[in-house]
Amino acid sequence: MRGHVKSDAGRGAVLRLAGRRVTLVPFGPDRITERHVAWLNDPEVNAYSRRKGARSTAEDASRYVSSLRADEHVLAILVGGEHVGNVKLGPIDGQNACAAISILVGERAVWGQGIGAEAIYYLVSRHLLTDVGLNRVHADSCNPAFLRLVDKLGWRVEGVLRERVRLQDRFLDDTVISLLAREFRVIDAFEPPKTIS
Ligand SMILES: CC(C)(COP(=O)(O)OP(=O)(O)OC[C@H]1O[C@@H](n2cnc3c(N)ncnc32)[C@H](O)[C@@H]1OP(=O)(O)O)[C@@H](O)C(=O)NCCC(=O)NCCS
Repeated sequence: MRGHVKSDAGRGAVLRLAGRRVTLVPFGPDRITERHVAWLNDPEVNAYSRRKGARSTAEDASRYVSSLRADEHVLAILVGGEHVGNVKLGPIDGQNACAAISILVGERAVWGQGIGAEAIYYLVSRHLLTDVGLNRVHADSCNPAFLRLVDKLGWRVEGVLRERVRLQDRFLDDTVISLLAREFRVIDAFEPPKTIS
């Protein structure tokens, strides 16, 4: 059985997670650029978000970064060195060895190329379930693209919050999904190429 995991596990230690195309690095104030703020205000990027309302500013983004708790971590998703989005892990519940995760690929030009899947794979399967030693990761979403990508990674549906999210003139179901450590499988397509020394 997996033991107690400190809820600030990984803080300071999560420096760089490298997949085949995606690298995850800590998201700091230096990454709050005009492009990043534009993602936060892009209606298409935020279509399935439960948080809708006033426009976000760089100050809002800075406040968000400084308001993160010790059991929450945001990593920048880099593709070819370009910042294309963020992943958040946490809050981490060390007592129960589980964590929530969420993702925002803000650069729409890279959607549909497997970047989200590789980021979630590296963040979740590789790091939280394998290195940190969590037993479970979970998320909830009404975005069909996100549900499709986690399905490909072996996540299971736990339940549906009926009509939880308003999208213009209709209500969408919010699906709760999770992956347990014992269900994690290595996916070669996301592994960094092996170097021969
Ligand atoms: C959801 C999101 C992470 C997907 O990122 P991505 O890099 O495009 O993801 P991937 O390419 O790895 O996989 C997306 C999959 O969904 C599929 N897809 C895209 N639109 C879809 C739709 N409307 N219905 C069903 N599947 C869809 C893609 O075809 C792809 O599957 P495939 O590889 O079998 O073709 C990205 O669009 C995003 O950040 N959206 C805004 C924020 C958000 O909704 N986050 C999720 C909630 S935490």
